[in-house]
Amino acid sequence: MSSQESAPNPTVQGEDPLEGLLLEHKSKFKTCSQIGFYRRQKLLHPDQSPYLAQLDTLKNENGIVTLNIIHQETKVPLQLQVIAVEGNIVRLKINELSPLKPRYEVPDVLVKEPTTERFNILLQETETVVLEHTNGTSKVHIHSQPFSIMVTQEDKELFGINSQGFLYFEHLRLPPEKSSSTRPFNCCSKCLFSFRTLSRMREPAETDTKVQPDKSEQDVFGLWKEEFGNFVDIKAHGPSSVGLDFTLYGFENVYGLPEHADIHCLKDTRENEAYRLYNLDVFGYRVYDKMGTYGSVPLLLAHKPSNTCGIFWLNASETLVEIHSKAALQSHSQSNSPDIQKQKAVPKMDIRWMSESGIVDVFLLLGPMPQNVFNQYAQLTGTQILPPLFSLGYHQCRWNYEDEADVEAVDSGFDEHNIPYDVMWLDIEHTDGKRYFTWDPDKFPDPVKMQKKLQEKRRKLVVISDPHIKVDPNYTLYAEAKKRGYFVKDRKKQNFEGSCWPGVSSYIDFTNPAAREWYSSQFSLDKYKNATDILFVWNDMNEPSVFYAPEMTMPKDAVHHQGWEHRDLHNLYGFYQQMSTSEGLIQRSGGKERPFVLTRSFFAGSQRYGAVWTGDNKAEWEYLKISVPMLLSLSVTGIAFCGADVGGFVGDPDPELFVRWYQAGSFQPFFRGHAMQGTKRREPWLFGEENTLLIRKAIKERYTLLPYWYLLFYKAYRTAELVMRPLWVEFSKYEDAFTWESQYMLGNALLVAPVLDSGVKSIDVLFPGTEEYWYDFRKYTLVKGPHRQKVAVTLEEIPVFQRGGSIIPMRTTVGKSTAWMASSPYELHVALDRKGLAVGELYVDDGYSLQYLHEHMYSHRRFTFSENVLRSSSADKKGCYIVDCILEKVYIIGLKKSPSKVTAHCSGGKKMVEFTYNNQLCLLSLENLSLQVCADWEIHIV
Ligand code: NOJ
Repeated sequence: MSSQESAPNPTVQGEDPLEGLLLEHKSKFKTCSQIGFYRRQKLLHPDQSPYLAQLDTLKNENGIVTLNIIHQETKVPLQLQVIAVEGNIVRLKINELSPLKPRYEVPDVLVKEPTTERFNILLQETETVVLEHTNGTSKVHIHSQPFSIMVTQEDKELFGINSQGFLYFEHLRLPPEKSSSTRPFNCCSKCLFSFRTLSRMREPAETDTKVQPDKSEQDVFGLWKEEFGNFVDIKAHGPSSVGLDFTLYGFENVYGLPEHADIHCLKDTRENEAYRLYNLDVFGYRVYDKMGTYGSVPLLLAHKPSNTCGIFWLNASETLVEIHSKAALQSHSQSNSPDIQKQKAVPKMDIRWMSESGIVDVFLLLGPMPQNVFNQYAQLTGTQILPPLFSLGYHQCRWNYEDEADVEAVDSGFDEHNIPYDVMWLDIEHTDGKRYFTWDPDKFPDPVKMQKKLQEKRRKLVVISDPHIKVDPNYTLYAEAKKRGYFVKDRKKQNFEGSCWPGVSSYIDFTNPAAREWYSSQFSLDKYKNATDILFVWNDMNEPSVFYAPEMTMPKDAVHHQGWEHRDLHNLYGFYQQMSTSEGLIQRSGGKERPFVLTRSFFAGSQRYGAVWTGDNKAEWEYLKISVPMLLSLSVTGIAFCGADVGGFVGDPDPELFVRWYQAGSFQPFFRGHAMQGTKRREPWLFGEENTLLIRKAIKERYTLLPYWYLLFYKAYRTAELVMRPLWVEFSKYEDAFTWESQYMLGNALLVAPVLDSGVKSIDVLFPGTEEYWYDFRKYTLVKGPHRQKVAVTLEEIPVFQRGGSIIPMRTTVGKSTAWMASSPYELHVALDRKGLAVGELYVDDGYSLQYLHEHMYSHRRFTFSENVLRSSSADKKGCYIVDCILEKVYIIGLKKSPSKVTAHCSGGKKMVEFTYNNQLCLLSLENLSLQVCADWEIHIV
């Protein structure tokens, strides 16, 4: 939520207050046609690119191929760089050859300068150059006139670039009064004509359906000044927008581009708005909408049975993406060669990216399989940080837990109702007048004692820390930041002042490394009064949210470190705050412990710093439903640790919705109940005994599955495997799965089908995979894939199935929190595939320190079942963590016949194992095993 004044509180306002919210969205946030650079770029005519590649300028030095491309009318030269990046990635950069001043190139998102490989020049003619990647699989064909590129993989067309002619590059220029040119911006004479005449006669370009020019030509396209409502954006550096189109051959499904409250498989944008990537605080956002919400990852993935690839558009300014799908047989190619004729029969997707400033810096991730693309993207932006174990448990939040007594009562409530939970959260009201890093002296007079009590229960505390700092000379944090010059400036070089929770506030300039370092140091226990080491952090409102400002965010003409305008880096602001907070928590522990930081705003690479949640959803079924595709879109763009507010933030959930949300949330990565100020209290036990029972069951099941969750996070960190996986990732050749997004895989072993509608007695479940076996996770009954089936549901639980061929590690008992379970015994669920085989893993470490990273203090085990022997062996010999935990039970599901005996073999010798066999279910249960879970052993079934 953003402003008390501007965002009505549904619990206090009139008849249908949410209706009012929707109307507000319309006037508060821009549609594409209200965005100047979009209107300018939409003037381009397709297939008439004014750019020419000067192939005679080509150089191939140090793994980088450069050449000039020139706008045939303005004659402004651009430089193209084509770079072969290690791991089957092609990077393209386009910048002005000699800009008036440097243009913004996104720093800090890539983990390192990518390692380059080489291109050989296969062919160099006047019209065409062909580069071959030295790895032999991909080629880059550069055509001179008009300029276009074709990237082939194994000699098949994969990406066309500027094949639609939408390369757009507004060169920097002197303000009109200082320049002699009358040309308003950088396109062809047709566009110039359109520009001059559009305001008089409505004659938009062919593809332009939305341009609604008004007033004089100076206002219409927002070159040096752009108005929105009463807000005026002064563009000191003039227009600087960039754009480029990509054609994806043979693809019909594309994904990614979070964050939008929309379906996972991206829609064709021809009939309506483009996908907008512009981080905004959108209280109670609309569902099925492409407007920008809190965060942006400019990564788009395309998938077909034979191939997966990605486009990573590294630009942090406001970005719009249009998607046009073209069915088969509509290809524009004129060639009659048999190969090209064959390719005409394939569908394609045209993707057009438009950004307000910066340069074109794009990585083509060539796959070819989904996991290759995830690895390629992770190689560039990093993997998910391994979270501390506690943060995979359940989190209890509310705006606000009133005071220390309230915190204590809620904490005890969990124990009284026998519900595990790990973290108590405090929202903005815990502070002294919304001054972060302080405590309200009346409501929280003894925060240390409060934290001690939580610590005794082996639980943690998370407090909020927003980026706006109250303008108050007596507030040390403000005074210090001001003195050091760490605030963002306005265009007149004064500290920018905007309004947020505390009233007038300034905003820390997290893009300044010194400001980040200083902010990080505020978390040290000697600085942060009354904080203890069980306190972790929540970064909110960091789009940044600024009340009464354009689109409720920082004006684009605000100025950051080194003079960059906010417009250049808007989408990076939250990324930097989370980076700084996360580093602060690591430093607080002397470099020894893992941080936990939740952020609302994010960018590519945010996965390196913690978790993300989907902001201010509503307590309505549609929001529960949309949480699944929203989290899948975050997951495929590297942000594995993601979740949605359980119960819905705005409004009051009815009991059924509440229960269903807990059941769904317990199978989503970040699991936190949260509620808005003024809503009815909704701790898990407040909905009657029966519902308490169901919620307890859902949360407890989460806790029994923690070994599996932890393994999945370890794999996300180590090898960029997705925790929450869309079906298309796991069943990449099974086309029915490509658009099936109401269910998903957790890792490769669990198929989760949350109930997302009220009052349903059954749900439609897709059991993917030819020859796959699926077992009901709780009842062990078998379903064979591939097929679609109605599965009966009760309010008891949501359908979950274990995939045949997998082994899932679980705990046999649940404690008050994860820390109470450190020595709980384990059990293994071994689900056999049609050949009677299964494999699985377990990862264990201390759950909180960084020793896994620096000292190999972990144990990573592999379990295999074949020929009726279950074996435990090391999956990583480097791991040296000693785990003193027992494997107590094993369930072997799908074992065709009852054994006559079962024996266990370990270093201590051989022993007989007690077992029971259920004929009907083909289920063998082994109990009282007492084997060391992380040791080598074998269980023989005879
Ligand atoms: C907006 C956040 O989205 C919400 O979760 C939080 O409770 C409020 N800000 C108050 O801090």
